[in-house]
Amino acid sequence: MALKRFMTLPRHILEGEKAHPEATGELSSILLQLGLAAKLISLEVNKAGLANIIGFTGQENVHGEQVKKLDIFAHEMLIKAMDHGGHFCVMASEEEEDIIHLPPNKKIGKYVLLFDPLDGSSNIDANISIGTIFSIYKRISPGNGPGNLEDCLQQGYKQEVAGYIVYGSSTIFVYTAGHGVYGFTLDPAFGEFLLSHDNIRIPKSGRIYSLNEGNYFSWPKGLKDYIKYLQANYYNGKPYQARYVGSMVADIHRTLLYGGIFIYPGDRRNPKGKLRLCYECNPMAFIVEAAGGRATDGKERILDKKPESLHERSPIYIGSEDDVLLVEKFLRESREAY
Ligand code: AHG
Ligand code: MN
Ligand code: MN
Repeated sequence: MALKRFMTLPRHILEGEKAHPEATGELSSILLQLGLAAKLISLEVNKAGLANIIGFTGQENVHGEQVKKLDIFAHEMLIKAMDHGGHFCVMASEEEEDIIHLPPNKKIGKYVLLFDPLDGSSNIDANISIGTIFSIYKRISPGNGPGNLEDCLQQGYKQEVAGYIVYGSSTIFVYTAGHGVYGFTLDPAFGEFLLSHDNIRIPKSGRIYSLNEGNYFSWPKGLKDYIKYLQANYYNGKPYQARYVGSMVADIHRTLLYGGIFIYPGDRRNPKGKLRLCYECNPMAFIVEAAGGRATDGKERILDKKPESLHERSPIYIGSEDDVLLVEKFLRESREAY
Protein backbone atom coordinates (compact mmCIF):
# COMPACT_ATOMS: atom_id res chain seq x y z
CA MET A 1 0.00 0.00 0.00
CA ALA A 2 1.51 3.33 -1.07
CA LEU A 3 2.50 5.39 1.97
CA LYS A 4 0.44 8.39 0.82
CA ARG A 5 -2.70 6.36 1.49
CA PHE A 6 -1.36 5.33 4.89
CA MET A 7 -4.08 7.15 6.78
CA THR A 8 -4.62 5.57 10.18
CA LEU A 9 -7.66 6.25 12.39
CA PRO A 10 -5.63 8.29 14.91
CA ARG A 11 -4.11 10.43 12.16
CA HIS A 12 -7.50 10.98 10.51
CA ILE A 13 -9.06 11.99 13.81
CA LEU A 14 -6.26 14.41 14.66
CA GLU A 15 -6.31 15.94 11.15
CA GLY A 16 -10.09 16.27 11.44
CA GLU A 17 -9.61 18.09 14.73
CA LYS A 18 -7.20 20.58 13.10
CA ALA A 19 -9.69 21.17 10.27
CA HIS A 20 -12.39 22.12 12.78
CA PRO A 21 -11.08 24.82 15.13
CA GLU A 22 -14.14 24.41 17.34
CA ALA A 23 -12.99 20.85 18.07
CA THR A 24 -11.74 20.66 21.63
CA GLY A 25 -9.59 17.59 21.14
CA GLU A 26 -11.81 15.75 23.61
CA LEU A 27 -13.81 14.11 20.82
CA SER A 28 -10.50 13.02 19.28
CA SER A 29 -9.42 11.22 22.40
CA ILE A 30 -12.89 9.69 22.82
CA LEU A 31 -12.69 8.30 19.27
CA LEU A 32 -9.17 7.00 19.88
CA GLN A 33 -10.40 5.19 23.01
CA LEU A 34 -13.33 3.74 21.05
CA GLY A 35 -10.86 2.52 18.42
CA LEU A 36 -8.91 0.72 21.14
CA ALA A 37 -12.07 -0.85 22.59
CA ALA A 38 -13.04 -1.96 19.06
CA LYS A 39 -9.73 -3.76 18.61
CA LEU A 40 -10.10 -5.55 21.96
CA ILE A 41 -13.69 -6.62 21.25
CA SER A 42 -12.71 -7.71 17.75
CA LEU A 43 -9.99 -9.90 19.26
CA GLU A 44 -12.57 -11.67 21.45
CA VAL A 45 -15.17 -11.92 18.68
CA ASN A 46 -12.65 -13.48 16.35
CA LYS A 47 -11.77 -16.21 18.83
CA ALA A 48 -15.25 -16.57 20.39
CA GLY A 49 -15.56 -20.14 19.21
CA LEU A 50 -12.23 -21.07 20.71
CA ALA A 51 -12.41 -19.20 23.99
CA ASN A 52 -15.65 -20.98 24.82
CA ILE A 53 -17.04 -17.49 25.21
CA ILE A 54 -20.09 -18.23 23.11
CA GLY A 55 -23.20 -19.90 24.36
CA PHE A 56 -25.76 -18.60 26.77
CA THR A 57 -24.83 -17.21 30.16
CA GLY A 58 -28.17 -18.51 31.27
CA GLN A 59 -28.90 -14.94 32.37
CA GLU A 60 -31.46 -12.68 30.79
CA ASN A 61 -30.88 -8.98 29.99
CA VAL A 62 -33.20 -6.17 31.04
CA HIS A 63 -35.49 -7.00 28.16
CA GLY A 64 -35.88 -10.65 29.11
CA GLU A 65 -33.68 -11.72 26.18
CA GLN A 66 -31.11 -14.48 26.57
CA VAL A 67 -27.71 -12.82 26.93
CA LYS A 68 -24.65 -14.27 25.29
CA LYS A 69 -21.34 -13.91 27.05
CA LEU A 70 -19.97 -11.75 24.24
CA ASP A 71 -22.65 -9.12 24.91
CA ILE A 72 -21.46 -8.82 28.49
CA PHE A 73 -17.81 -8.86 27.50
CA ALA A 74 -18.32 -6.07 24.96
CA HIS A 75 -20.44 -4.08 27.45
CA GLU A 76 -17.80 -4.34 30.18
CA MET A 77 -14.95 -3.66 27.74
CA LEU A 78 -16.55 -0.44 26.52
CA ILE A 79 -17.19 0.82 30.05
CA LYS A 80 -13.63 -0.04 31.12
CA ALA A 81 -12.18 1.69 28.05
CA MET A 82 -14.36 4.79 28.36
CA ASP A 83 -14.81 5.47 32.07
CA HIS A 84 -11.41 6.88 32.98
CA GLY A 85 -10.66 9.48 30.27
CA GLY A 86 -12.59 12.15 32.14
CA HIS A 87 -14.73 12.86 29.06
CA PHE A 88 -18.15 11.60 30.16
CA CYS A 89 -20.72 12.61 32.75
CA VAL A 90 -22.99 9.62 32.13
CA MET A 91 -23.30 6.53 29.89
CA ALA A 92 -26.10 4.20 28.84
CA SER A 93 -26.01 0.70 27.36
CA GLU A 94 -28.50 -1.73 25.92
CA GLU A 95 -27.27 -4.16 28.61
CA GLU A 96 -28.12 -1.90 31.58
CA GLU A 97 -31.67 -0.93 32.59
CA ASP A 98 -30.58 2.38 34.14
CA ILE A 99 -28.06 5.05 33.18
CA ILE A 100 -24.46 4.25 34.09
CA HIS A 101 -22.64 6.67 36.39
CA LEU A 102 -18.88 7.10 36.34
CA PRO A 103 -17.03 5.53 39.30
CA PRO A 104 -16.86 8.06 42.19
CA ASN A 105 -13.14 8.70 41.93
CA LYS A 106 -13.19 9.43 38.19
CA LYS A 107 -13.08 12.91 36.60
CA ILE A 108 -16.48 13.99 35.17
CA GLY A 109 -16.58 15.31 31.59
CA LYS A 110 -19.11 17.07 29.38
CA TYR A 111 -19.99 14.24 27.00
CA VAL A 112 -22.62 11.48 27.05
CA LEU A 113 -22.05 8.00 25.57
CA LEU A 114 -24.85 5.64 24.53
CA PHE A 115 -24.06 2.26 23.04
CA ASP A 116 -25.24 -1.12 21.90
CA PRO A 117 -22.18 -3.16 22.87
CA LEU A 118 -22.97 -6.11 20.68
CA ASP A 119 -25.54 -5.84 17.91
CA GLY A 120 -26.82 -8.96 16.18
CA SER A 121 -26.05 -11.23 19.13
CA SER A 122 -28.37 -13.97 17.86
CA ASN A 123 -25.80 -14.43 15.08
CA ILE A 124 -22.74 -14.95 17.30
CA ASP A 125 -22.80 -18.77 17.32
CA ALA A 126 -23.22 -18.97 13.55
CA ASN A 127 -20.16 -16.81 12.88
CA ILE A 128 -22.28 -14.19 11.09
CA SER A 129 -21.24 -10.52 11.19
CA ILE A 130 -22.09 -8.66 14.43
CA GLY A 131 -21.17 -5.21 15.62
CA THR A 132 -21.05 -2.36 18.14
CA ILE A 133 -22.99 0.92 17.79
CA PHE A 134 -22.14 4.17 19.63
CA SER A 135 -23.63 7.65 19.94
CA ILE A 136 -22.11 10.73 21.61
CA TYR A 137 -23.83 13.91 22.84
CA LYS A 138 -22.80 16.94 24.84
CA ARG A 139 -24.44 17.05 28.27
CA ILE A 140 -27.45 19.37 28.67
CA SER A 141 -27.77 19.10 32.47
CA PRO A 142 -26.20 22.04 34.32
CA GLY A 143 -23.07 21.91 36.43
CA ASN A 144 -20.03 19.62 36.37
CA GLY A 145 -21.41 16.78 38.46
CA PRO A 146 -22.72 13.40 37.30
CA GLY A 147 -25.05 13.51 34.30
CA ASN A 148 -28.66 12.37 34.38
CA LEU A 149 -31.34 10.59 32.35
CA GLU A 150 -32.27 13.75 30.42
CA ASP A 151 -28.70 13.90 29.11
CA CYS A 152 -29.34 10.45 27.58
CA LEU A 153 -32.78 11.26 26.11
CA GLN A 154 -31.75 13.93 23.63
CA GLN A 155 -33.08 14.08 20.06
CA GLY A 156 -30.75 12.40 17.58
CA TYR A 157 -29.99 15.55 15.58
CA LYS A 158 -28.00 16.78 18.63
CA GLN A 159 -25.43 13.99 18.35
CA GLU A 160 -21.80 15.12 18.17
CA VAL A 161 -20.47 11.80 16.87
CA ALA A 162 -22.05 8.48 15.85
CA GLY A 163 -20.42 5.31 14.63
CA TYR A 164 -20.34 1.56 14.48
CA ILE A 165 -17.90 -1.30 14.22
CA VAL A 166 -18.70 -4.39 12.13
CA TYR A 167 -16.88 -7.58 13.18
CA GLY A 168 -17.17 -9.45 9.88
CA SER A 169 -14.85 -10.80 7.20
CA SER A 170 -12.75 -7.88 8.37
CA THR A 171 -13.28 -5.44 11.24
CA ILE A 172 -14.36 -2.01 10.04
CA PHE A 173 -14.79 1.16 12.13
CA VAL A 174 -17.21 3.71 10.63
CA TYR A 175 -17.89 7.13 12.18
CA THR A 176 -19.14 10.62 11.44
CA ALA A 177 -18.75 13.85 13.40
CA GLY A 178 -21.28 15.44 11.05
CA HIS A 179 -18.68 16.32 8.40
CA GLY A 180 -18.65 13.22 6.20
CA VAL A 181 -18.65 9.50 6.96
CA TYR A 182 -15.35 7.60 7.12
CA GLY A 183 -14.59 3.88 7.23
CA PHE A 184 -11.40 2.27 8.57
CA THR A 185 -10.47 -1.37 8.13
CA LEU A 186 -8.39 -3.09 10.82
CA ASP A 187 -5.10 -4.43 9.52
CA PRO A 188 -4.47 -7.30 11.94
CA ALA A 189 -0.83 -7.45 10.85
CA PHE A 190 -0.06 -4.43 13.03
CA GLY A 191 -3.37 -3.74 14.73
CA GLU A 192 -4.15 -0.38 13.11
CA PHE A 193 -7.37 0.85 11.53
CA LEU A 194 -6.52 2.15 8.02
CA LEU A 195 -8.77 4.53 6.05
CA SER A 196 -10.51 2.30 3.50
CA HIS A 197 -13.71 4.28 2.81
CA ASP A 198 -13.02 8.01 2.44
CA ASN A 199 -16.16 10.18 2.67
CA ILE A 200 -18.84 7.52 2.10
CA ARG A 201 -21.88 8.74 0.10
CA ILE A 202 -24.94 6.48 -0.09
CA PRO A 203 -26.40 6.08 -3.63
CA LYS A 204 -29.57 8.17 -4.16
CA SER A 205 -31.43 4.93 -4.89
CA GLY A 206 -30.52 1.28 -4.72
CA ARG A 207 -31.76 -2.13 -5.80
CA ILE A 208 -31.71 -4.01 -2.46
CA TYR A 209 -34.42 -4.20 0.19
CA SER A 210 -33.67 -5.60 3.62
CA LEU A 211 -36.23 -6.64 6.26
CA ASN A 212 -37.44 -9.77 8.06
CA GLU A 213 -40.10 -11.15 5.69
CA GLY A 214 -41.10 -13.68 8.35
CA ASN A 215 -43.24 -10.91 9.82
CA TYR A 216 -45.10 -10.30 6.52
CA PHE A 217 -48.60 -11.01 7.83
CA SER A 218 -48.24 -8.44 10.63
CA TRP A 219 -46.92 -5.67 8.36
CA PRO A 220 -48.86 -2.46 7.63
CA LYS A 221 -50.79 -2.80 4.33
CA GLY A 222 -48.74 -0.03 2.71
CA LEU A 223 -45.52 -1.95 3.41
CA LYS A 224 -46.95 -5.14 1.92
CA ASP A 225 -47.90 -3.16 -1.24
CA TYR A 226 -44.43 -1.57 -1.38
CA ILE A 227 -42.55 -4.87 -1.18
CA LYS A 228 -44.85 -6.43 -3.81
CA TYR A 229 -44.15 -3.38 -6.01
CA LEU A 230 -40.37 -3.90 -5.69
CA GLN A 231 -40.77 -7.59 -6.55
CA ALA A 232 -43.10 -6.96 -9.50
CA ASN A 233 -41.31 -4.07 -11.09
CA TYR A 234 -38.19 -4.58 -13.10
CA TYR A 235 -35.20 -2.26 -12.99
CA ASN A 236 -32.89 -2.81 -15.93
CA GLY A 237 -34.62 -6.17 -16.38
CA LYS A 238 -34.41 -7.36 -12.77
CA PRO A 239 -36.57 -6.91 -9.64
CA TYR A 240 -35.02 -5.63 -6.40
CA GLN A 241 -32.83 -8.11 -4.55
CA ALA A 242 -33.64 -9.20 -0.98
CA ARG A 243 -30.74 -9.28 1.50
CA TYR A 244 -31.17 -9.73 5.29
CA VAL A 245 -28.34 -10.62 7.69
CA GLY A 246 -30.27 -10.08 10.91
CA SER A 247 -27.54 -7.86 12.36
CA MET A 248 -28.55 -4.21 12.00
CA VAL A 249 -24.95 -3.03 11.70
CA ALA A 250 -24.21 -5.46 8.83
CA ASP A 251 -27.47 -4.71 6.99
CA ILE A 252 -27.02 -0.97 7.29
CA HIS A 253 -23.32 -1.05 6.41
CA ARG A 254 -24.22 -2.86 3.16
CA THR A 255 -27.07 -0.37 2.54
CA LEU A 256 -24.67 2.55 3.10
CA LEU A 257 -22.20 1.19 0.53
CA TYR A 258 -24.53 -0.39 -2.06
CA GLY A 259 -27.70 1.70 -1.59
CA GLY A 260 -31.27 0.46 -1.10
CA ILE A 261 -33.36 0.32 2.07
CA PHE A 262 -33.30 -1.36 5.49
CA ILE A 263 -36.61 -1.63 7.33
CA TYR A 264 -37.61 -2.74 10.78
CA PRO A 265 -41.30 -1.70 10.76
CA GLY A 266 -43.83 -1.29 13.48
CA ASP A 267 -46.41 -3.99 12.93
CA ARG A 268 -49.72 -5.28 14.27
CA ARG A 269 -47.99 -7.14 17.11
CA ASN A 270 -45.27 -4.57 17.89
CA PRO A 271 -46.44 -1.11 16.76
CA LYS A 272 -43.06 0.43 17.71
CA GLY A 273 -41.04 -2.31 16.02
CA LYS A 274 -37.99 -3.88 17.68
CA LEU A 275 -35.00 -1.53 17.31
CA ARG A 276 -34.09 0.94 20.04
CA LEU A 277 -34.31 4.65 19.30
CA CYS A 278 -31.44 5.86 21.50
CA TYR A 279 -28.59 3.49 20.67
CA GLU A 280 -29.57 1.79 17.40
CA CYS A 281 -31.87 4.02 15.31
CA ASN A 282 -30.42 7.46 16.22
CA PRO A 283 -26.73 6.70 15.59
CA MET A 284 -27.51 4.85 12.35
CA ALA A 285 -29.81 7.67 11.19
CA PHE A 286 -27.11 10.26 11.96
CA ILE A 287 -24.58 8.31 9.89
CA VAL A 288 -26.91 7.61 6.94
CA GLU A 289 -28.06 11.25 6.78
CA ALA A 290 -24.41 12.41 6.92
CA ALA A 291 -23.81 10.15 3.87
CA GLY A 292 -26.76 11.75 2.01
CA GLY A 293 -29.48 9.22 2.87
CA ARG A 294 -32.79 9.38 4.73
CA ALA A 295 -34.13 7.78 7.96
CA THR A 296 -37.71 8.00 9.28
CA ASP A 297 -40.14 5.92 11.31
CA GLY A 298 -42.33 5.80 8.19
CA LYS A 299 -43.57 9.33 8.84
CA GLU A 300 -41.31 11.32 11.18
CA ARG A 301 -37.55 11.93 10.82
CA ILE A 302 -35.77 9.60 13.30
CA LEU A 303 -33.38 12.37 14.40
CA ASP A 304 -36.28 14.65 15.37
CA LYS A 305 -37.99 12.13 17.67
CA LYS A 306 -37.78 13.01 21.37
CA PRO A 307 -36.94 9.83 23.34
CA GLU A 308 -39.18 9.40 26.39
CA SER A 309 -37.33 6.40 27.86
CA LEU A 310 -33.88 4.87 27.50
CA HIS A 311 -34.88 1.60 25.84
CA GLU A 312 -37.87 2.73 23.82
CA ARG A 313 -38.27 1.22 20.40
CA SER A 314 -39.01 2.90 17.05
CA PRO A 315 -39.98 1.67 13.60
CA ILE A 316 -37.18 2.53 11.13
CA TYR A 317 -37.06 2.97 7.35
CA ILE A 318 -33.47 3.92 6.47
CA GLY A 319 -31.24 4.07 3.39
CA SER A 320 -31.20 5.68 -0.07
CA GLU A 321 -33.32 8.82 -0.17
CA ASP A 322 -35.48 7.79 -3.15
CA ASP A 323 -36.20 4.35 -1.66
CA VAL A 324 -37.23 5.72 1.74
CA LEU A 325 -39.40 8.44 0.13
CA LEU A 326 -41.15 5.78 -1.99
CA VAL A 327 -42.03 3.48 0.94
CA GLU A 328 -43.32 6.53 2.85
CA LYS A 329 -45.60 7.26 -0.12
CA PHE A 330 -46.98 3.69 -0.05
CA LEU A 331 -47.56 3.94 3.74
CA ARG A 332 -49.23 7.37 3.42
CA GLU A 333 -51.50 6.41 0.53
CA SER A 334 -52.57 3.00 1.84
CA ARG A 335 -56.21 3.17 2.86
CA GLU A 336 -55.92 0.30 5.34
CA ALA A 337 -53.57 0.17 8.32
CA TYR A 338 -52.97 -3.62 8.13
P1 AHG B 1 -29.19 -6.94 19.47
O1 AHG B 1 -28.41 -8.18 19.19
O2 AHG B 1 -28.34 -5.76 19.90
O3 AHG B 1 -30.36 -7.19 20.37
O4 AHG B 1 -29.80 -6.43 18.07
C1 AHG B 1 -30.46 -7.34 17.27
C2 AHG B 1 -31.36 -6.58 16.33
C3 AHG B 1 -30.65 -6.02 15.11
O5 AHG B 1 -29.27 -6.26 15.11
C4 AHG B 1 -31.29 -6.74 13.94
O6 AHG B 1 -31.53 -5.86 12.87
C5 AHG B 1 -32.59 -7.26 14.53
O7 AHG B 1 -32.34 -7.49 15.90
C6 AHG B 1 -33.03 -8.53 13.89
O8 AHG B 1 -34.28 -8.83 14.47
P2 AHG B 1 -35.15 -10.06 13.88
O9 AHG B 1 -34.40 -11.29 14.25
O10 AHG B 1 -36.48 -9.93 14.59
O11 AHG B 1 -35.27 -9.86 12.39
MN1 MN C 1 -28.72 -4.17 18.57
MN1 MN D 1 -27.07 -5.62 21.49
